[in-house]
Parts: sequence; structure tokens; C-alpha cells
Amino acid sequence: MHPRRRPFRDLSLGFLIATALILVRAPAARGAVDPSYLSCSSTISCGVLQNASYPFWGLTRASYCGLPDFQVTCLDNTTPLLNISNQNFRVLQFNDTTKVMTVAREDYWNTICPTSFVNTTQEITSSFSYTSDTLPSNLTLYYGCGGFPNQTTIQITLPNCQFNCTINGTNVIGYFITKKVSDIANAAAFSSYFGGCNSSVVLPATQSAIEEIQSSPSNTTVVSAIDEGFGLQWTVDETCISCHASGGQCGRKNRSGEFLCYCQDKSYSSTCSGTSVVILEHCYDDFGPG
Ligand SMILES: *[C@@H]1O[C@H](CO)[C@@H](O)[C@H](O)[C@H]1NC(C)=O
Ligand SMILES: *[C@@H]1O[C@H](CO)[C@@H](O)[C@H](O)[C@H]1NC(C)=O
Ligand SMILES: *[C@@H]1O[C@H](CO)[C@@H](O)[C@H](O)[C@H]1NC(C)=O
Ligand SMILES: *[C@@H]1O[C@H](CO)[C@@H](O)[C@H](O)[C@H]1NC(C)=O
Ligand SMILES: *[C@@H]1O[C@H](CO)[C@@H](O)[C@H](O)[C@H]1NC(C)=O
Ligand SMILES: *[C@@H]1O[C@H](CO)[C@@H](O)[C@H](O)[C@H]1NC(C)=O
Ligand SMILES: *[C@@H]1O[C@H](CO)[C@@H](O)[C@H](O)[C@H]1NC(C)=O
Ligand SMILES: *[C@@H]1O[C@H](CO)[C@@H](O)[C@H](O)[C@H]1NC(C)=O
Ligand SMILES: *[C@@H]1O[C@H](CO)[C@@H](O)[C@H](O)[C@H]1NC(C)=O
Ligand SMILES: *[C@@H]1O[C@H](CO)[C@@H](O)[C@H](O)[C@H]1NC(C)=O
Ligand SMILES: *[C@@H]1O[C@H](CO)[C@@H](O)[C@H](O)[C@H]1NC(C)=O
Repeated sequence: MHPRRRPFRDLSLGFLIATALILVRAPAARGAVDPSYLSCSSTISCGVLQNASYPFWGLTRASYCGLPDFQVTCLDNTTPLLNISNQNFRVLQFNDTTKVMTVAREDYWNTICPTSFVNTTQEITSSFSYTSDTLPSNLTLYYGCGGFPNQTTIQITLPNCQFNCTINGTNVIGYFITKKVSDIANAAAFSSYFGGCNSSVVLPATQSAIEEIQSSPSNTTVVSAIDEGFGLQWTVDETCISCHASGGQCGRKNRSGEFLCYCQDKSYSSTCSGTSVVILEHCYDDFGPG
């Protein structure tokens, strides 16, 4: 006697509100509460990041209560940092309802002269998507542009887009470009010119921040544009929604990373035992036995 399950997809907020959840049969009588369930029941707060739960972890939430790219640490008890694939991002805005946050590279906070040059991790797009106002590759910073070997044969005018850094006690000349490098006309001449630089770093920025740099190009507008951050969106999958609806807390296995639903008695692979979750797509769907 199993309730009929219906496939469901596209669990947008609106759909969730319109969704009817029917819990059949109460959970079995319980003894001691599972400590993993307790850890994953706690929410974390630091600065603008308030009441975060799965897939976030860190602070009071054990690593098995979240996903690897969602580790939160709290700098000076006020600034939430997110460690995405070994790169720290400062969380500037956080909205658990819309699942959107604004983040900025911690190593570029208040500076365009970090001690080492690294691109934003590619890994970021496996756990998040950029919000529509974010341009992932319109801002490129070139560093160590001392000896352009071909500059006598190529004429490139770069008004106001030079900056200087002192890195490890050495003066480093840099340039910023606010266009996707791959789309630049005369790309060959361009890359030949910037081939004379030691390093380049591509940074995501919002469209309005890019426009601010363009309307007033200088090292200080680049710094404030980077500090405005960019938007990341995340999703919570259907398995977690069903686990939560059955009274569980979402998490994963310590080692394999496989999804687990932590319930008061123990953990289950999808939903708490003794509970069936029926999600109706329409109010007229039937859910009776049969
Ligand atoms: C966080 O949770 C607390 C306690 O439940 C509540 O008072 C507060 O409004 C919540 N904050 C946000 C931003 O959801
Ligand atoms: C990110 O987390 C990993 C694993 O916990 C840690 O080794 C690393 O130092 C952290 N990276 C940063 C930039 O904090
Ligand atoms: C999250 O976004 C919703 C919808 O735009 C808004 O109503 C709510 O106030 C926001 N919450 C926070 C904490 O900013
Ligand atoms: C500066 O020194 C640090 C530590 O020695 C090194 O890791 C880093 O790569 C250096 N930065 C540059 C731009 O050479
Ligand atoms: C950053 O990415 C650009 C374009 O993909 C690449 O040319 C550059 O070498 C990368 N920089 C570093 C420091 O890896
Ligand atoms: C590029 O890097 C090399 C090795 O770190 C250094 O010797 C050289 O001075 C750098 N060039 C410029 C223009 O900064
Ligand atoms: C950077 O330093 C060089 C030489 O030290 C100087 O000629 C140039 O004007 C400086 N550029 C900026 C933007 O300050
Ligand atoms: C971003 O780069 C693309 C092409 O590389 C360009 O069409 C677009 O106008 C740029 N956006 C801004 C705000 O400059
Ligand atoms: C300089 O120009 C020559 C010929 O156009 C090219 O082969 C070479 O790669 C260029 N050097 C750099 C550093 O871009
Ligand atoms: C911008 O450049 C000016 C002059 O070169 C320098 O005094 C200032 O410290 C720089 N500001 C930043 C934020 O790098
Ligand atoms: C995961 O590891 C922690 C500490 O190592 C342990 O307390 C917990 O019971 C483990 N959880 C599971 C589900 O194996």
C-alpha cells in the first residue's frame, strides 16, 4: 500500500508554496536523539549571513551537515567568509529565501595588489551560478608589465588604465581591461602586447561596477568595483526538500559525500523512516492508496 509518487521538477519558490505535503504515518517512537541530527539542526550566523543551514556548514555545523564548497568561517566575529575550493570569499549580502548572495574575493579586499596572482576558481561554477547582473570575465588585471618586447611595433593606447603595486618589496606595473579579452578586436596585437606581462587575473564583477570603472578609470575605482562583489546563486535539491519535509536535516556521509537525511533516531538515505512524503503537483492529483 504505497502512496503514488509523482515526478516533480523545477522546485521554484512559487511551486513550493503551491505544493501540498502530506505526511503519512507518524515517525516511530524514538529513544536518544542522534548527535548528528542535533549538529545539523543548528543554524549558523555571522554578520550578514544569518540563520544559514544546509548546504552551508562550519561554526556550529559539522562538515557532514553541508556540501564541500559551502564552508563558512567568521572573521573577527563579524565577517562571514566562504571557502570555495580553497579560495576565500567575503560574503557581503546573503538571502536564504532567494538563495542569492553577494561575495568578493578576500585576497582582493581593499586592494588590487594581492601577494600572489590567482584566477577565481573554476570550481565556483560547479556549486553556484553567477547572477544575471554578474559579468564573469569582463575585468582582467595584468601584472608585471615591465618589458614589452614588441611595444615599438604595436601601438596600443591605454588611457588611465595603468596602476602600480608594490609586491614583496618590488614595484610591479599593472593594467586593467574591462572587456572580455577573447572579444577584443585585433586580439593578436593585444595579446602580443600583454604577452609582455608576467601574469593576468580575471575577476567577476557586476555590470554596474564595470561601467563605473569605464566612466572613471583609476586604481581606486577598480578597487571599489571589486569590493562591490558579484552575485552567486545556489540551489537546494529535491532530495533535501523531501528529507526536510519528513522531519530530517539534510547532510552527507562523512567520507563519500553521498546525501544523508539525519533524523532524530539515526540517518537515512533519503527521508526519515516511517514517513512517506507525497508531493502533489496539482491540487486535484489523487494521493490515496491504490
Ligand atoms: C534568524 O532567526 C532568528 C531566530 O529564529 C530570527 O529572530 C531572525 O529574524 C532570523 N533572521 C533572518 C535574517 O532570517
Ligand atoms: C579552505 O578549507 C580547506 C579545508 O578545510 C583548508 O585546508 C584551507 O586552508 C581553506 N582555505 C582557505 C583559503 O582558508
Ligand atoms: C530576501 O529577498 C526577499 C525577496 O526579495 C526579501 O523579501 C527579503 O527581505 C530578503 N531577505 C533578506 C535577509 O535580505
Ligand atoms: C610574494 O612572496 C610570497 C611568499 O614568498 C610568494 O608566495 C608570492 O608568490 C610572491 N608574490 C609574487 C607576486 O611574486
Ligand atoms: C587566468 O586566466 C586567464 C584566461 O583564462 C589566463 O590567461 C591566465 O594565465 C590565468 N592566470 C593565472 C594566474 O592563472
Ligand atoms: C617577471 O617575473 C620575473 C620572475 O619573477 C621577474 O624577474 C621580472 O622582473 C618580472 N617582470 C616584470 C616586468 O615585473
Ligand atoms: C607607475 O610607476 C611608474 C614608474 O615607477 C611611473 O612612470 C608611472 O607613472 C606610475 N603609474 C601610475 C598609474 O601611478
Ligand atoms: C563585457 O564584455 C563584452 C564583450 O567582451 C562586451 O560586449 C560588453 O559590453 C562588456 N560589458 C561592459 C559593461 O563593458
Ligand atoms: C613579438 O612579436 C613576434 C612577431 O610578431 C612574436 O612572434 C612574439 O611572440 C612576440 N612576443 C611576445 C612576447 O608577445
Ligand atoms: C592609487 O594610485 C595612487 C597613485 O599612484 C596611490 O597613491 C594610491 O595608493 C593607489 N590606491 C590604491 C587603492 O591602490
Ligand atoms: C561523522 O564523523 C563525526 C566525527 O568524526 C562523528 O561524530 C559522526 O558520528 C560521523 N557521522 C556519520 C554519519 O558517520
